[in-house]
Amino acid sequence: MDIEPYAPGCGALVSGIQLSSLTDTELLQIREAFVSHGLLFFRDQVFTPAEHLRFARRYGDIVLNKFFAPVKGFPDIAEVRKEKHHQTNIGGGWHTDHSYDETPALGSILVARDLPDTGGDTHFANLYAAYEALSPGLKKTLEGLRALHSNKHIYGKDGYYRGTDIADQLGGINDVSDATHPVVIIHPESGRKALYVNPGHTIQFEGWGFDESRALLNYLYTHVDQPEFTCQFDWQPGSVTFWDNRATWHFAQNDYQGQARLMHRITLAGVGLEGV
Ligand code: SIN
Repeated sequence: MDIEPYAPGCGALVSGIQLSSLTDTELLQIREAFVSHGLLFFRDQVFTPAEHLRFARRYGDIVLNKFFAPVKGFPDIAEVRKEKHHQTNIGGGWHTDHSYDETPALGSILVARDLPDTGGDTHFANLYAAYEALSPGLKKTLEGLRALHSNKHIYGKDGYYRGTDIADQLGGINDVSDATHPVVIIHPESGRKALYVNPGHTIQFEGWGFDESRALLNYLYTHVDQPEFTCQFDWQPGSVTFWDNRATWHFAQNDYQGQARLMHRITLAGVGLEGV
């Protein structure tokens, strides 16, 4: 197995293995690489939905997404689907999956199933590196803070997606929820500090006003979205990405109007997050 950095400070490309037939030693190496890099890319995988499910189950417990349609015959695999006639895509802005859950997801395993001829890349950000680059003063301000995360404004009755052309493919309108988490977490596996707020789901800091929170959150979002903390993955048939939701953000670029894109996602269950 070969594991090399994908982009400076952002992800690793794993080659020389098939996720469908990993030995126990290879699985261990993938676990170690996942903890070190927080973001793994794989190319040229032959990976049926049943093999996707088997790899996920070997790695950990699965958490169901309440909003995305399941793949037929595979209730644990969620579809991230955009049809030719859709204008809107799923996950088109920076976010972290499931930060609105009391126990946020460990990670997500995304498999390319049907790709547009051009476009549809996924962007990623490294939230360890972004945190480490903050000034000592700002780190001190953030440590000890907690923030409210929610999905109501996205998937709820009046949420963003309900007014779009993909509303009919999303369920869970009454399953919305929110949760609070530390703003700087100690990653449960690496022990490193990471910034744990994201533009998609973080609403405000606990004990702060909404506008006060937005001012600092917007500063942090601009800080994270810089070339030194981010990278872009161009999907090809056989590509798979496995990211750590406690250490990264991602978004799917919506630049392929008139073409379809279908991805299969399995989300892995995490643990409660401890702060600094
Ligand atoms: C997601 O936000 O989980 C989907 C990302 C993508 O489709 O590239």
